[in-house]
Amino acid sequence: IPVDPFDLVIFGGTGDLARRKILPGLYRRFFDGQMPDEARIIGAARSEMDEAGYRDFVRDAIKEFSGKRNDPNMVSAFLEKLSYVAVDATGTDGWKDLAKTMRADVVKAYYFSVGPSLFGAIAERLHKYKIADDAARIVVEKPFGHDRESARALNATLAEHFDETQIYRIDHYLGKETVQNLMAVRFGNMLFEPLWNAQYVDHIQITVAETVGVGGRGEYYDRSGAMRDMVQNHLMQLLCLTAMEPPSKYDPDAVRDEKLKVIRALEPVEHSEIVRGQYKSKSESYLKDVENPESLTESYVAMKIRIANWRWNGTPFYLRTGKKMKARVSEIVVRFKEPPHSIFEEDTGQSANELTIRLQPNEGMDLTVTIKEPGPGGMRLIDVPLDMTFAEALGEEAADVPDAYERLIMDVIRGNQTLFMRGDEVEAAWAWTDPIIDGWTEREDRPFPYEPGSTGPEEALILMHRDGRRWRELR
Ligand code: BG6
Repeated sequence: IPVDPFDLVIFGGTGDLARRKILPGLYRRFFDGQMPDEARIIGAARSEMDEAGYRDFVRDAIKEFSGKRNDPNMVSAFLEKLSYVAVDATGTDGWKDLAKTMRADVVKAYYFSVGPSLFGAIAERLHKYKIADDAARIVVEKPFGHDRESARALNATLAEHFDETQIYRIDHYLGKETVQNLMAVRFGNMLFEPLWNAQYVDHIQITVAETVGVGGRGEYYDRSGAMRDMVQNHLMQLLCLTAMEPPSKYDPDAVRDEKLKVIRALEPVEHSEIVRGQYKSKSESYLKDVENPESLTESYVAMKIRIANWRWNGTPFYLRTGKKMKARVSEIVVRFKEPPHSIFEEDTGQSANELTIRLQPNEGMDLTVTIKEPGPGGMRLIDVPLDMTFAEALGEEAADVPDAYERLIMDVIRGNQTLFMRGDEVEAAWAWTDPIIDGWTEREDRPFPYEPGSTGPEEALILMHRDGRRWRELR
């Protein structure tokens, strides 16, 4: 279904995110017929460039990043929608031109694909030059601050010019199909929710493992580390959606209120329940990649988290995320308790049910169920997976879902904030991570080394073993 006509301005329109995600994503929405004829996209950045130059830039980006939908005729038709305005974010140049470019009577959205230090300057100028009206939407990217203080300051800056209902803070994990599916599974079935609590769930694991290293982003990453780069936002969102109470409806504030309650119920994490790591081998190392031989920043973190509320009292959540790991795996594992009493005489290796929600790759779910091993060997029990890979169950086409960014940008145009973070949510997440980070910074804790291509530091296995549990294998 096409969205309403819009003017979308991308500040940082020649930047890396625009090139890799935003522009190819918009093209794919156009290709799939979701973009109305009257839609227009305006690149805005510092460099002088004419329209033809910008269209060439976008054509190349589409070629590189739009996958199998790259069709020359469609690309040319899409490029017709594009224009470019050179603006000086902190000065006066270009703003009047931008004002002239904008049309009345269409949805106006401004994507701040720039560093947070420019948010204030751009927001101010959008108002000063009367470019944004009261219905305009602004989209901001992570990192949303570096700690609670800076996040609060950013919120205050944006609030000077925009209402909270106009601000769309992106966490692209919320745009992933399976993340939304988590809500469908939990609240669209009768099967799971009655068991989704400390009485029946032994523990929950959330893993986001990557095989890539810090790439060309060493400088940014070394100031952030896995905690700020991944846990404060992406893993926190996964945790919230897994742990929250059922919202009364699928509505932005109803969902975000419930997520906020989870964040506020998180207990401080004990120092002994966190394991940080840095990848290191003879031939490659984190320290070399970030060009900082003294760095104490973590490229891996694992931790045990407790949620202080009725539903989860006694059921820990274990989180882990890292770069240069053995496999690219993002998943949530709900490990149920063992049956309270076994009626079978021998020890048959009976174990507990496990529901795994796989975000990537092979989006899908599986549930291990204990059954009788077929054959005449007596009552031997085995665990078998009830496996549902979406691509297999629904066909490749149905599983060919929009990338997270595509979906989120279309939600901005539709005016739906459900999958965006509210200001108080971001601040609360920082309020929980700040003391953890301050703790290890003050103690000058040294991360444990781990072999690139491994499952992370040994110490993370011990974190689980001492509770009589183990991480699900990375595969
Ligand atoms: C980004 C982080 O937000 O998410 C990156 O800054 C990380 O470090 C990326 O690699 C992971 O996203 P995805 O969608 O590839 O899992």
